[in-house]
Amino acid sequence: MAQKTSELPTWSSKWAFILAATGSAVGLGNIWRFPYIAGENGGGAFVLVYLGCVLLIGLPLLMSEILIGRRGGHNPAKSMGLLAEICGQSPWWRWIGFLTIVSGLLLLTYYNIIAGWTVAYIFKSPSIVTLPPSEIPALFSALIANPWEQFLWLSVILISLFLVISRGLKDGLELINWIMTPGIIILLSILLIFVCRLDGFQQGIRFILQPDFSALTAHGFLDALGHSFFTLSLASGSMMMYGAYLNKETSIPRSSLTVAGADTAVAIIAGLVIFPIVFSFGLNPNAGTGLAFETLPLAFQKMRYGSLLSMAFFTILFFAAFTSIVSLVEPAVVWVIENFHVTRTTATLINCLLLWIAGTILILSLNYWSDFTPFGLTLFELATYVSANILMPVGGLFIAIFMGSVVHKRIIEQELGWLSTTLSFRLWYFIIRFVVPIAILFIAIRALGLI
Ligand code: TRP
Repeated sequence: MAQKTSELPTWSSKWAFILAATGSAVGLGNIWRFPYIAGENGGGAFVLVYLGCVLLIGLPLLMSEILIGRRGGHNPAKSMGLLAEICGQSPWWRWIGFLTIVSGLLLLTYYNIIAGWTVAYIFKSPSIVTLPPSEIPALFSALIANPWEQFLWLSVILISLFLVISRGLKDGLELINWIMTPGIIILLSILLIFVCRLDGFQQGIRFILQPDFSALTAHGFLDALGHSFFTLSLASGSMMMYGAYLNKETSIPRSSLTVAGADTAVAIIAGLVIFPIVFSFGLNPNAGTGLAFETLPLAFQKMRYGSLLSMAFFTILFFAAFTSIVSLVEPAVVWVIENFHVTRTTATLINCLLLWIAGTILILSLNYWSDFTPFGLTLFELATYVSANILMPVGGLFIAIFMGSVVHKRIIEQELGWLSTTLSFRLWYFIIRFVVPIAILFIAIRALGLI
């Protein structure tokens, strides 16, 4: 039987795609990392550098991934292999596509667990506000120390993931993004209105937005670079997969710009919500789990409607995590379908079971097995390190090389809708060939802790 070039469905509309890609990009990083690194590295000065990095590095790569996906029309591995063959190069490029699927799955192993914590805290919110303040950090340590509780929440996440993904593109992925991505923006906006009246509002705004160029160091610069790459969900297969569902009429440059803009806007609004709260109650800014599960609950305790605010905040975190999770598993699911010719339900089940086993191991690495530390890291830390600091930069580098030296210019012209003689094309091509690879080398050197 002759193989059809593409059997995948397409998004119902351009907006379905934009919402889903934005849902993928907006994740935990936007809420608990960006605002803090911005504040620590000179506020508005950092934001400017970050915008530059998004435009110069993130956006061209995002466009490349969507282009590869749309032209290839399959899972990222097959899309890259096919495209390489069409351009007279080795089909071995499919292994780079495969690598991105693996890095996405590895990221998922721990992202699922954190998503589980956010759901746990939605339910804990009413009781959190009644606890004595000294108990708040203990509550989080108790969760980390309790494998059963985490296993329960991980299972909730994976069962929900199974239910969404097995329903397919329109009834699963699209539906969840129609609900959750606007949900993040609406809930954040409600919190923002609430936060405006707090005493620390001015101080919070100054922390995130007032430019202080003297606080901007070379490390701050590299953090902006690295974050612009991570926040757009690059090199994890997701954007290539979402691109494969995109119709030919939608402009890749314009929709990519919308996604990058929405992602940045959410990150800034998150900062405008979080840091006024932190400063109003005399707390110190921090990032990551400490900010979300320890510092902010302390503030919610002292606020009117604290338990509602806390529930809203953890719901935002959960929505942000879950819309990223669905985009991370989708490439692996389609890879299984296309390679083993099984139904979507079976492919989803296989992936969820795999993630369940891996997740359970990582949960145990936080408590019972915390002494097992190959390379000086627990398995949980190792998964975060290898996926974000090694596999993703490597994948990104090869995607840039692939675009810059394998894919024919004619194909790029058609996909981006730019003639190769135009300034936009030439600038983009130069960036992909020279600027992005060098920038990714710097990201990798910084991520590996070498500078
Ligand atoms: N963009 C996500 C965040 O900011 C993290 C992330 C990295 C991601 N790569 C991804 C999410 C791939 C989905 C798919 O938190």
